[in-house]
Amino acid sequence: MNNICRTRVLSALISTLQTTKNKLGKVYFSSRSTFKLTNTNLNQIHVLRQSSTGFSAVKDQLCAQHEDYLELPVESAVPLKIPYVWLRDHCRCSECYNQKTNQRLFDSFVIDVDEAPVSVESYDDKIKLTWKDTHVTTYNLSWLKQNSPGSNLQDSVKKVLWNGEKIQKEMPDDVPYKDFMNNDESLKEVLMNIHKYGFGIVGECPPTEEKTVELSERIGHVRPTFFGKSWGFTDNEVFDDTAYTSDAIGPHNDNTYLLEASGIQVFHILHHDGEGGENLLVDGFNAASILKLKHPDYYEALARIPIRAEYIGDGHEVISIINLIQENKITKEIDAFRYNPFDRALLSHTSFEDTKLFYKALKALSAEINSPLNELRMKLTPGRVLFVDNWRVLHGRNSFNGSRVLAGCYLPKDQLNSRLRTIAGLNIY
Ligand SMILES: [Fe+2]
Ligand SMILES: [Zn+2]
Repeated sequence: MNNICRTRVLSALISTLQTTKNKLGKVYFSSRSTFKLTNTNLNQIHVLRQSSTGFSAVKDQLCAQHEDYLELPVESAVPLKIPYVWLRDHCRCSECYNQKTNQRLFDSFVIDVDEAPVSVESYDDKIKLTWKDTHVTTYNLSWLKQNSPGSNLQDSVKKVLWNGEKIQKEMPDDVPYKDFMNNDESLKEVLMNIHKYGFGIVGECPPTEEKTVELSERIGHVRPTFFGKSWGFTDNEVFDDTAYTSDAIGPHNDNTYLLEASGIQVFHILHHDGEGGENLLVDGFNAASILKLKHPDYYEALARIPIRAEYIGDGHEVISIINLIQENKITKEIDAFRYNPFDRALLSHTSFEDTKLFYKALKALSAEINSPLNELRMKLTPGRVLFVDNWRVLHGRNSFNGSRVLAGCYLPKDQLNSRLRTIAGLNIY
């Protein structure tokens, strides 16, 4: 006999269960031990293993087959319930899934959504399901526990929200340019800083636009916009944008007018022979979480009421309708923050009731964003390249005099997330 357990139906159990509303099909268990159900309430089924000292609860390897779902005992109080249709659809055999390209081969639309497997067997840490057409699907229990419906997916490393005092204490170190360019551990350090704090700094970079782009491409391909692939500019007003002046600019996110704002903005001061121009950073997620604590109704309003942002100039008319606060649909945490008082456009689509509420909420949020308690100020000098998570951290600057040249570019959010998964080894959603 191989180690696949022989399946048996508990006839006594079935007769009990047939009288219940939720029909239980079969219970399978290892032939090397015997089991009994202690509770006929199907919502509270416990399968027990007989040991030399009596029955003890089994926390893995056993499953209960219900009419249209499989129930797996897990460590938590709530058992894992997986619909059969999901188990058929996610089959990872070579006929159904290409392991090389990580793409689905199976045509999900042929599934009978009510089909139950003909048999379910559990052995070692695996579940084997045989379907009516003799197709066999095998899952590792650990994979199922991690990926099946109802899994509590969260980022494997939490973001660290900060105000001015906290970030001064936890300020991430500059990572030297040569290490960053040649060593994956140093790249990982910068990526982790961006993930955790919303920014990271590479030092000792040669102060040229070309080297700034080369450095940025270590994270991923640059995302061109109508500002070009990259820029190296002074206060020459070549674009119709406040950034191209020497005026002070309050905290904001870039690209709020784009349907998908760039994920990272890269800043590198190549030259400055005057005074002022210090950079200002504010953690938008922290500001939003403070707002949520103080005024949950305002937070809800900003997450719900769409606003319009636009870039009109230089022959472009780019408009997006967005939410200022966006939550991750899986983790339910703040996912994106799009605050830009300069690019905010006509509020012509809100209801009468929402209009005044929106202004109250925006005013309360702006108070947090502009509070000196929540800001980090730093003077970037030639060689220090700042990567800012533009979906989270707001940037601004003081006014300046003298000649000041800034180089930079944008990177897409997808590229950052991909590198966080592949280089930094994070599970992020
Ligand atoms: Fe900006
Ligand atoms: Zn398959």
